[in-house]
Amino acid sequence: MTTNLARVPFALADFGRYKREGTKITVLTAYDYTTAGLLDAAGVDCLLVGDSLGTVVQGRETTLRVTLGQMLYHAEMVSRAAKAAFVVADLPFLSYQVSAAQAVRSAGRMLKQTDCRAIKLEGGQTVAATVRKVVQAGIPVMGHIGLTPQSVRRIGGYKVQRDEEQLLADAHALVEAGVFAIVLECVPSGIAAKITAAIEVPTIGIGAGPDCDGQVLVTPDMLGLFEGFQPKFVRRYANLAETIRESTAAYLADVRTSKFPDAGESFR
Ligand code: KIV
Repeated sequence: MTTNLARVPFALADFGRYKREGTKITVLTAYDYTTAGLLDAAGVDCLLVGDSLGTVVQGRETTLRVTLGQMLYHAEMVSRAAKAAFVVADLPFLSYQVSAAQAVRSAGRMLKQTDCRAIKLEGGQTVAATVRKVVQAGIPVMGHIGLTPQSVRRIGGYKVQRDEEQLLADAHALVEAGVFAIVLECVPSGIAAKITAAIEVPTIGIGAGPDCDGQVLVTPDMLGLFEGFQPKFVRRYANLAETIRESTAAYLADVRTSKFPDAGESFR
């Protein structure tokens, strides 16, 4: 018997619906076709092509050197793999901060060239006018406040953000500008809960406690693949780094002792 297991694709309107219904929104980052396909098939609601690829893919200390061209390259692969997940792509540092016109151009290229469904950019009140222009151009925007890694040089490090008044003002400014969801990064749980209760769009937490409307993790962190730095808010659901080390050691041993390939793995 064949069963149609095709999922209904997660749509823009589902973000608001999930919040209203009290259903948690699941988000994971993805950077390549193979991993995105696996996460999509596992049922994740939303795939974020994060500029965190600057650290977990490119091996840099910050996300600052990630370019729009690199984001386009990764977002296209992820979008092609995603059959049901809603794909959001980050605009990287300096691809939207110069002017609203620059932001619309960058966001427009992202949608046109990658088939992603929405873009994400960092900042609150200071980028609200820009967000409004991008939304007016027909491009859905996910906001990102709290710890905003593209501002790490100004912030002076990866620190928990505790200015409740500012965070609430940022969230309200983004909602007013038309975002469909807001990532809250490294915000104390109590403040995140207040923001979540105060706004009509869903909050997606990362290091923001259990009361957000959804959660996001950087996938190489969640899978125990990236060992560089483990923030307090990461929970590892696998230890892929160890699996890779063990399987590579087994492969090397088999090749060195002529156990691989065997007759079944060879052509006659
Ligand atoms: O770049 C990224 O992966 C992100 C998430 C951490 C939210 O912005």
